[in-house]
Amino acid sequence: MERINIYNPNIAPYAKSAIDAIESGWISNHGKYIGLATEKLKEIMKCKHVILMANGTCATHCLFLALKHAHPTITKIYVPNNAYVAAWNAALMEYSECQLSVMRMDASTWNICTDEEYIATLDPNAAMLVVHNVGNVVNVPRLKRLRPDMVFVEDNCEGFLGKYGEQEHDDDQPQYSGTSDATLCSSVSFYGNKIITTGEGGAFFTNDDAIYEHISRVYSQGMSAKRYVHEVHAYNYRMTNVQAAFLYDQLCDLDAIIAQKTRVFDTYVALLNEHDLLRSGRVRLYEKEAGTQSTHWIFALRIVGNTKTVDETAAFFDANGIDVRPFFYPIHAHAHLSGLTCVIGDDDAVSVRLNQEIIMVPSSPDMTLDEQRRVIDTVHKFVMHLNGVNVQTIQDQDHHNGMPMPMPMPMLHQIVNIIKHDTDNLSFRYFNNRTIETALQTHAITNVYYVADDANDANDANDANDAITDFIGYAHIDFDAVSNRHWFGIYICKSQRGKKYGALVLNDTIHQFCIQTKYQYDVYLSVDCTNMHALHLYEINKFEIVETRDTVYVMRRKCNAVSDGVM
Ligand SMILES: Cc1ncc(COP(=O)(O)O)c(C=O)c1O
Repeated sequence: MERINIYNPNIAPYAKSAIDAIESGWISNHGKYIGLATEKLKEIMKCKHVILMANGTCATHCLFLALKHAHPTITKIYVPNNAYVAAWNAALMEYSECQLSVMRMDASTWNICTDEEYIATLDPNAAMLVVHNVGNVVNVPRLKRLRPDMVFVEDNCEGFLGKYGEQEHDDDQPQYSGTSDATLCSSVSFYGNKIITTGEGGAFFTNDDAIYEHISRVYSQGMSAKRYVHEVHAYNYRMTNVQAAFLYDQLCDLDAIIAQKTRVFDTYVALLNEHDLLRSGRVRLYEKEAGTQSTHWIFALRIVGNTKTVDETAAFFDANGIDVRPFFYPIHAHAHLSGLTCVIGDDDAVSVRLNQEIIMVPSSPDMTLDEQRRVIDTVHKFVMHLNGVNVQTIQDQDHHNGMPMPMPMPMLHQIVNIIKHDTDNLSFRYFNNRTIETALQTHAITNVYYVADDANDANDANDANDAITDFIGYAHIDFDAVSNRHWFGIYICKSQRGKKYGALVLNDTIHQFCIQTKYQYDVYLSVDCTNMHALHLYEINKFEIVETRDTVYVMRRKCNAVSDGVM
């Protein structure tokens, strides 16, 4: 099984200018591509000043050099409780630990809480480091309207190419995050896993002439008019001409790069829908703040109620050949930041939960549909695992590594017995006039679902005794040669009804069938017209009524309709 990496940069098509830079001999921070990429970035982002830098961390450090320079009396900086560590570290390069104050997080946006009442409680004469986590943009112009007294700086390393600005404010048309006049300055990263990459690299943005003046000196050794005489404490944060050349070629092809990433994101959403993971509430994506457009950096999803630790979750995906990352830990998880004073109180629970439940999944621009399918299939498997659901596919018995599996047939007999003796079961009449043996001959899929005794053995569902004592349900897809149709059948055990297992079992079986048959066949079912509960389940899971036969509806789920969004 080939491993799917969290990110493979797509740099090869954008090497032409970099080779030119190397051949020209201008490989340090002088050369034409520094100017070309800077101008291009300014033009695209509609920002007055841009300074290319060596990486996102030093660009973020410059936010605080700028803040200190322009607002020397500010002594309190609000920072988010969950963020990539470089954001806090950059603040600590200029401010002491006791000057940082930790903000509460929002469980739906995965960013800082921006509720009006909460923002109103923040101290005056303070600054805020805004971080657009995993590409979800915080509406900074709105925050500035709420708190005109506060100074905002943006770590836009993950938010690059996102937008903010609300239409209802005439002066507030959507603009790229990090470029508003509401913000003092912003930073981006061009690290290898970013939408635009120069390997290592970053940039500093501001519309303020004085800030630009100051940072253009301190980022490059504090050059004065007289060579080797320096007036300020400064740094070497320069980008090379070769890196700038990579940047320039990508900026010239920006629309295509964004389209590729958008395809990956849209496909993930379609696949999650195919498994019914979003509507069922088992998986959530972040909510966007009003007046913002997120950027397609890395696809992240929240597995609601994930009780596994970050390491256990990563190990599960790793065992399935998929590289994932957890969402950022709360600030106190880091030894050097554990003593920070904060205003979060009990709300740390949100930060802990976000870190535990959210995973970032592979998001390379060149991911194939099959790779993305494998990722979301594994998410589905993980959700089943969390719910303690094991699945036993019966027709696997002859093909299980060449060895017959010992349990399935006796198990199936016992299960059919349970079904036949369920006096409340008037709707699933499939086995009333069939033997198991004849039924199996025409089955494309026969699945038995049961609660895993030990969630850890959820991957090897071979124990027939488990299946009987903790039986959840049964589902099949049966081919009927007369009608030339595939028919779906489902039974949920009496003691397990009302626990939302129906949708899980239905989608699992049909998805398995679609994959197995390469999305060639529609699936049909028949349901009593009076069985409102079942009708509702089928309708919300994409079945539609196509015929009425006496007291029975025939419903169809188009398999190609399910995959429309992802082909
Ligand atoms: C929010 C945030 N800030 C800062 C950085 C640092 O950027 P770099 O890795 O280019 O130094 C990153 C990294 O990507 C980041 O995600």
